[in-house]
Amino acid sequence: MGVVKFWSRRSARRCYSEHGYCVFRNAFAPQNIAEIAELIRDSIPSFDGELLRQDGRPAPNDFFPGTLLVRNPLLHPHLSLADSLGGHLGTALMDLVTSDALGERLNILDRQQHYVIHQVLLFFAAQTTELHLDSWSLDTAPLGHSHTVWIPLQDLDHRSGSPAVIAWPIGRVLTEAALGLSTEGSLGERYERYQRALSTHLRASSPEAATALLQMGDAFIWSSLTPHFTLPSYPFPRERLSLQVLIRPASMKWGDFTAQPYDRHSLQLRQVSSWFSVRVLS
Ligand SMILES: [Fe+2]
Repeated sequence: MGVVKFWSRRSARRCYSEHGYCVFRNAFAPQNIAEIAELIRDSIPSFDGELLRQDGRPAPNDFFPGTLLVRNPLLHPHLSLADSLGGHLGTALMDLVTSDALGERLNILDRQQHYVIHQVLLFFAAQTTELHLDSWSLDTAPLGHSHTVWIPLQDLDHRSGSPAVIAWPIGRVLTEAALGLSTEGSLGERYERYQRALSTHLRASSPEAATALLQMGDAFIWSSLTPHFTLPSYPFPRERLSLQVLIRPASMKWGDFTAQPYDRHSLQLRQVSSWFSVRVLS
């Protein structure tokens, strides 16, 4: 058993290093995930107050027309859920994203000992996202060592709108200059220009895209420089409860794709376990 564990750890680390992604099956107790999903279904759609959304502003639920399916994802729900929702959901999400189970798996991939949770998003349905790198939202300095942990909160199938990645070795940087792009314009303009050029560049070599028909309890992890996108869901919209967690090894400086290191804000952190610290919301 010990030998098997040793080899499976080695193989996960090597796979992540060479391909930039890893799927951990049964990382979490499926029953715990199912209970979190039920708490979400029971509390969020019927809540008529404002909650922190993906754009960083509080807003009420915005539903897909004719449904009770929320289309504006929640930002930092492990920290930001209003007291009126009761403490259970926020606590359950905090426990999940700072769990030993997750810390131990990140440690398998990069041998780090402590991590900072930078961003958590709670999705209710699949969003259409083109090929992109999460490095533009968060990365380490040097680039390529922060992780995106994607946690399905329900069983998925081929029509669920799952994320898909294109294998990419850890630390390989395809700069704007390498794509023949200028660095002029706003950050938004640079981002849009880069993602379009990245997509053209990658598709020219007919790349394979990898996804998984994930079950509750699984975790899909990819690196900040791993190109990925979201497959369409059918029908659209349909429920696809999931968490996306951006995480950086605490020992490394942080930044993003264009700012290395990132020094415009200082981060106030709170350690919540031996594995994890979280940002303090100001
Ligand atoms: Fe992404």
